[in-house]
Amino acid sequence: MKIGGHAGYSLLRWLKPGDKGQGSGETKLSYVPKIKRILGSEGWDDLRDKVVLDFGCGIGFGSVELAKHGAKHVIGIDIRRDVLEVARKYAEENGVSDACKFTESVDEKVDVVVSVDAFEHIGDPAAVLETMDSLLNDDGFVVISFGPTWYHPRGGHLFSIFPWSHLLFTEEAQIRWRSDFKDDGATRFHEVAGGLNRMTIKRFIKLVEQSPFKIDSFRAVPIRPLAWAHNRLTREFTSAIVECKLMKQGS
Ligand SMILES: C[S@@+](CC[C@H](N)C(=O)[O-])C[C@H]1O[C@@H](n2cnc3c(N)ncnc32)[C@H](O)[C@@H]1O
Repeated sequence: MKIGGHAGYSLLRWLKPGDKGQGSGETKLSYVPKIKRILGSEGWDDLRDKVVLDFGCGIGFGSVELAKHGAKHVIGIDIRRDVLEVARKYAEENGVSDACKFTESVDEKVDVVVSVDAFEHIGDPAAVLETMDSLLNDDGFVVISFGPTWYHPRGGHLFSIFPWSHLLFTEEAQIRWRSDFKDDGATRFHEVAGGLNRMTIKRFIKLVEQSPFKIDSFRAVPIRPLAWAHNRLTREFTSAIVECKLMKQGS
């Protein structure tokens, strides 16, 4: 039973009249540590001289870090033209625009795909895994870090105005509340700018199992204060992010 209708909307409005305090969702400070945690320092160093695809690059913090680190070429892909434009400027300011390309579509082969904080936003993640496979060289790999997942206390992102609030209110009441301060016309969670696909850990694992990839390494990282309660049964509610490395099946 969820709180919806005018009552749900009014309660949300009363609890949080605007979007004050909501961040951009970009991960300038944690992008590199996230990749390093999955690949190790040696693996991070090995990205030098590689062609890297940054899937869901946003405003390009990660792509620029990869280029500054020495990647041969970084392709940042995103569905939002506005963020791609910002990313191009950011690469220019950092002197790496020759090594970076920001685009809505790619057709060249790459050595590595990296995707940070994007998988809970992607509208058709199964199709994206297929795309990643088609763009990746046979001996390449995919590094994914994403979250918070849907049952995390803040899994609703902007909609989580208090822990797990996104699970208590109807989608309709939350979208109506959001439309008070966002004018992109979204009527469903997945229509908000950048998307929100309610990705759970279980769904993600199932998607990978049905994809052309196999899991090389996987970690559901506990929310620190809830680490004591974190296990396979509770992890949907007690994990902060998911980190994994995928290889092509048969490699
Ligand atoms: C939270 S941002 C993360 C940006 C960046 N990776 C970072 O860590 O700073 C998620 C990005 O994924 C993008 N995105 C969502 N669906 C996508 C898709 N199907 N293909 C490419 N990008 C997508 C969104 O537009 C958004 O810019």
